Amino acid sequence: MKLKLLYQQMLAFFVVIFTTVIVFGIAFIQFSNRMVYRDTWKQLEGYADSVFQQSVVVNTDGEFAGIQITGLQNSERLLANQAIHFTIYNKQNTIAYPKNDYSPAITNAQWKKLKQGETLTTKSDRRLNQVGRKQHPTTDIIKPYRNEDGTLIAVISVGSPVANIESNMRKIQHNLLIAFLISGLVSILIAYALAKYSVSRIDRIRRAAHKIGEGNFDITVPTKGNDEIDGLASDFNHMTESLKASNEEIKRQEQRRREFLADAAHEMRTPLTTINGLLEGLTYDAIPEESKEESLQLMSNETKRLIRLVNDNLDYEKIRTNQIVLNRHEIYVHEVINNLVEQLQKKADEAKDHFVIQVATNVVAYADYDRFVQIMFNIMQNAIQFTTGGTISVHAKNDDKKNCIVTVSDTGIGMSEDQMKNIWERYYKADVSRKNTKYGESGLGMAIVHQLVKAHDGQIKVSSQLGKGTTFTVRLPGKK
Ligand SMILES: Nc1ncnc2c1ncn2[C@@H]1O[C@H](COP(=O)(O)OP(=O)(O)OP(=O)(O)O)[C@@H](O)[C@H]1O
Ligand SMILES: [Mg+2]
Repeated sequence: MKLKLLYQQMLAFFVVIFTTVIVFGIAFIQFSNRMVYRDTWKQLEGYADSVFQQSVVVNTDGEFAGIQITGLQNSERLLANQAIHFTIYNKQNTIAYPKNDYSPAITNAQWKKLKQGETLTTKSDRRLNQVGRKQHPTTDIIKPYRNEDGTLIAVISVGSPVANIESNMRKIQHNLLIAFLISGLVSILIAYALAKYSVSRIDRIRRAAHKIGEGNFDITVPTKGNDEIDGLASDFNHMTESLKASNEEIKRQEQRRREFLADAAHEMRTPLTTINGLLEGLTYDAIPEESKEESLQLMSNETKRLIRLVNDNLDYEKIRTNQIVLNRHEIYVHEVINNLVEQLQKKADEAKDHFVIQVATNVVAYADYDRFVQIMFNIMQNAIQFTTGGTISVHAKNDDKKNCIVTVSDTGIGMSEDQMKNIWERYYKADVSRKNTKYGESGLGMAIVHQLVKAHDGQIKVSSQLGKGTTFTVRLPGKK
C-alpha cells in the first residue's frame, strides 16, 4: 500500500501521542482506584474503632465480657443510612452481634492472621453468609482488637457495598473517556500540523527540483535551521549553483563556437571573393594586359593570406589543446629582439616609428625558441601596426628568481577598457575600421600569443589608454 508521506508522518505522530495518553490514562485509573479504596478503608476503620469503644465490654482480665446494646443500636442506625453494615465477633470466631443470618463468616486462614494482629481488607467480598446465601459484593475491613498481652478480645468487620465505590469509579472513567476523545482529536490536529510542516518543507525542495528540470536555475530553497531537511535543502542549492554554472558554460561555449564559425567564414570570404573576381576577369579577358601581372600578384597575396589564416587557426587549436611540444631552452632575449627589429625595421620606417631597445645582453628567457619569437613578433608587429610616427620601446629583465619580464610599449592609438577585455579572443578587432591594414588583419595574433604564454606557464598583461599608447607585459617563469 502506498501511503502519502503526510499520512505516514501523521500516523507516526498520532501513535506516539495517543499511546502516551493511553498509558497515562490507565495509570491514572489504577491510581485513583487505589486511592478510593484506601480512603474507604480508612473511613471503615474509623467506624470499627468507634463501634469497639462504644459497645464492647472488656472485663478486668482484658477479656471480652459482652456487648452494650443501646450505644450500638444508635451507631447501627446511623451507619445503615449509608448502607454500611458491621459485625462483631468474639474471640472464638462466633458472631456476637448482630444476631441475624446475613452476617458474613470469617475463614480460618483469615482468623489466623487476625490473631496475629493483622488488619484485613477485602475488595468486592462475596463471602457467603451464615446460611450460605450470596450477598451483594462489599468491600470490608476486618480489624482485630487485642489487650496488652496480645490476646484477642474481639474482631470487628465493617463493610460498605462496592456499588458505592464503583459508581465513583465509573464517574472517573467517564470523565477520562471524554478526556481521551478530546486528546485523541487534539493529537490528530497536532499530528496533522507537524506532518504538514515537514512535508511542506520537502515539497518546497520538490517544486524547486521540478523547476530546475524545466531549465529554470534561478531557484534557491530557503534554509533556516540545521536539521536533515535543511541539510538537504542547502546541498540542493549547491547542486543548483553548479548546474547553473555548467549550463552557462555550455551556453557560452555554444555562443563562442557560433561566433567562431561566423568569423572564420567571414575572414575567408573576403580573400576568396577577391580571387574569384580576378579569376573571372582573367577568364573573360576583362583585365587589361598591363594589369594582369598585378592581378596575379594580388591573387597570390590573397592565397597566402588564406593559407596563413588556416595555419593560424590550426596553430591556435593545437596550442589550446596542448598538442604542441615546447622545446624549452635558455634564450638570450637581446638576440631575439635584435633579429625582430631588423625584420620589422622596414615596416616601422613606413609608419615613421622608431624603436628604443633596452635589453641587457645577459637577460635570458626559458622558452621554446620559435614560440618565443612568435610571441614577440606578434606583439611588436601590433605595436607598429597601431602606431604612426611614434616610439616603440622594448625592455627585458630577469628578476631574482630568473623569471623573464619583457615589456613592449608604443605611443599609438591605444584601446579602451572594453576593447582590452576582448583582446585575447579569436577574431577580435577593437575597431572594425582597423582591418585590412597591411599587416595582420584577422584578429588571431593576440589569441595565439595568449595561448602560447599560457603554455609556458607565464602571464601576459595589457594596459592601454585610448589615444596615448599601449603596453604589453609578458612574464615567463625561469628554469626550475
Ligand atoms: N599595440 C596595440 N595598440 C592598439 N590596439 C591594439 C594593439 N595590439 C592589439 N590591438 C587591438 O587588438 C586587436 C587584436 O589584435 P590581434 O593581434 O589579435 O589581431 P590583428 O593584429 O588585428 O590581426 P592578426 O591576426 O594579423 O594579428 C587588434 O585588432 C587591435 O584592435
Ligand atoms: Mg596582430
